[in-house]
Amino acid sequence: MSSMKRLRKKNNFQFSIDMTYKRTTVTSALPYANGPVHIGHLAGVYVPADIYVRYLRLKGEDVLFIGGSDEHGVPITIKARREGVTPQDIVDRYHNLIKKSFEEFGISFDIYSRTTSATHRQVASDFFKTLYDKDEFITKESEQYYDEEAGVFLADRYITGECPRCHEQGAYGDQCEKCGSTLSPDELINPKSTISGSVPVKRMTKHWYLPLDRHEEWLRKWILEDHKEWRPNVYGQCKSWLDMHLQPRAVSRDLDWGIPLPIDNAKGKVLYVWFDAPIGYISNTKELLPNDWEKWWKSPDTRLIHFIGKDNIVFHCIVFPAMLKAEGSFILPDNVPANEFLNLEGDKISTSRNWAVWLHEYLADFPGKQDVLRYVLTANAPETKDNDFTWRDFQARNNNELVAIYGNFVNRTLVLTHKYFEGKVPERGELTEYDNATLKEFVDVKAEVEKLLDNFKFRDAQKEAMNLARIGNKYLADTEPWKLAKTDMGRVATILNISLQITANLAIAFEPFLPFSSKKLRDMLNLTSWSWSNLGSLDMLPAGAVVNKPELLFEKIDDAPIEAQIKRLDEIKKQNEEAKRLLELQNFKPAPVQENIPFDQFEQLDVRVGTVLECSRVPKADKLLQFKIDDGMGCRTIVSGIAAWYNPEDLVGKQVCFVANFAPRKLKGVESQGMILSAQDADGRLVVVSPSASVRNGVKVC
Ligand code: 2FM
Ligand code: ZN
Repeated sequence: MSSMKRLRKKNNFQFSIDMTYKRTTVTSALPYANGPVHIGHLAGVYVPADIYVRYLRLKGEDVLFIGGSDEHGVPITIKARREGVTPQDIVDRYHNLIKKSFEEFGISFDIYSRTTSATHRQVASDFFKTLYDKDEFITKESEQYYDEEAGVFLADRYITGECPRCHEQGAYGDQCEKCGSTLSPDELINPKSTISGSVPVKRMTKHWYLPLDRHEEWLRKWILEDHKEWRPNVYGQCKSWLDMHLQPRAVSRDLDWGIPLPIDNAKGKVLYVWFDAPIGYISNTKELLPNDWEKWWKSPDTRLIHFIGKDNIVFHCIVFPAMLKAEGSFILPDNVPANEFLNLEGDKISTSRNWAVWLHEYLADFPGKQDVLRYVLTANAPETKDNDFTWRDFQARNNNELVAIYGNFVNRTLVLTHKYFEGKVPERGELTEYDNATLKEFVDVKAEVEKLLDNFKFRDAQKEAMNLARIGNKYLADTEPWKLAKTDMGRVATILNISLQITANLAIAFEPFLPFSSKKLRDMLNLTSWSWSNLGSLDMLPAGAVVNKPELLFEKIDDAPIEAQIKRLDEIKKQNEEAKRLLELQNFKPAPVQENIPFDQFEQLDVRVGTVLECSRVPKADKLLQFKIDDGMGCRTIVSGIAAWYNPEDLVGKQVCFVANFAPRKLKGVESQGMILSAQDADGRLVVVSPSASVRNGVKVC
């Protein structure tokens, strides 16, 4: 039976409680099998889950790590339709790719299965049927958008049109990505189905709903009172959902891809992907342990931990627990350490814009460097806020931390052991005060790393492990055994014994984070038995034990491969900008023509041509240019807001059109005597309007 102290906050007092449990079921969000996984998925979910599971295994705890692909849902059907293949073809392709790349990356699932498995279909159907028989659903009929050409009901996301707020084309039925407004498909101007391009119509349809409102009371208590220790981002999101009050959620869809509703009179209806996906954790456990799965899901002495990204919080903290509670025989999650998002080079990772570092590509581009990516992703883990991955930081952390601190210490220790003691662990003699101070520091590291890991603070935990390597590095640099070799071999033996013990400790401390390098290091040290409890020990390598010749644990990464990655991203950025420009051109609709006006009203507008004599930026006004214009009668000053698009000197000598009878007004202290005419190009830049051939200054435009 393991026991852990966990800090809980109540009434602003922190107190610790003893929790006892026998085993831990760890799940990691099932990625959709409609694309490969990228570093955002890894940093948010799979790397922290894997660290945690490896840590528990190292402590000798009973733990099960469940993964798998999420293979239902509308996006998969759309991708299949676009490619002219079946949804099964799509999920087969990506499930295999994802599974293989996770394996190669060292994500140590006990099972990685899929929601199209026979076991899952049965478990999910039975789950629905149990709730149905217990009257845990309600049904509702409502009007929903339907694509008559494709013959499918449309999720909000598959309807696009003009945003009613900012008039951007291509806003989605649930949100405009340009202005961020939350929308409903009814609000879109000229809505269109993204599947066939046709105008959707409304149709009545019946669905089964999980009445979350019935669960609100116990959820409030369970989360807001009993789980104050959850991460603030998770707790806060749950609180805001609960404060807005919960509504019934549909658990069925009209679709021909998914698990059919296992009841009569539900033809054409399948389980909503978010109903079946979390049940996938249970199905995959059952697939792995057909006769022994229940204790991992039903026993009160099992802890259930879900690793997810922040977009999945509501499903794992509110909807899935309500499903489990409604079913009646399952335990509820103990913690849901959700992460925020990882950005790439300052921009949001996006599959559709190909703005990502894909795992399978990384593995091909940087063979054998799994631990470098694992290290960098944990060092930048978006645990409390969104964080950024950059290729320069990746290079710097490899070269300055993994190579220069950890690798360097291990290498020096082993080289010196071979040089002075033929590769045998020397005897440790009497310790100096400095030795003891060093050892005290490094013994403390164990407690610290443990506390941080128990509290899901992986980033800080890894920092602590690296501190152990720093301590070792500093110890060698300060004691300089190579200088003592001629005079005091006894002292050299002690220093190297201590350094070797620290090295063995590093192999254990880093195992959850950097499993490949830890294995390499254990092999170098011939360390055949180890566990977390050895951490802090000074006797892992007995005197006389043989250590192998060192191999480099990490290699320096030069500029060339980093620059190649940056170049690739630059090219993608350019392609995306070009695609956006083309889309805008395609979607460009001239503004509606204004009401007719009589000729004399037009005549009142005095538009003329003049030549720019001088042009300069207006101090302290980023947007403004100040012009001196030869208007045929003299020199007039005009201030215009086009500084973002022109170098002032490029406009000197050009003829421009301007409104000459605009009432003068002051802009940033400069009186503007007119207005220069300009028009917006496809990129949104303002371009000044000029006559197509030279004319006399002051001539009227008519
Ligand atoms: O957001 C996603 O990628 C979902 N496929 C996660 C599902 S998690 C669980 F419910 F399976
Ligand atoms: Zn908008």
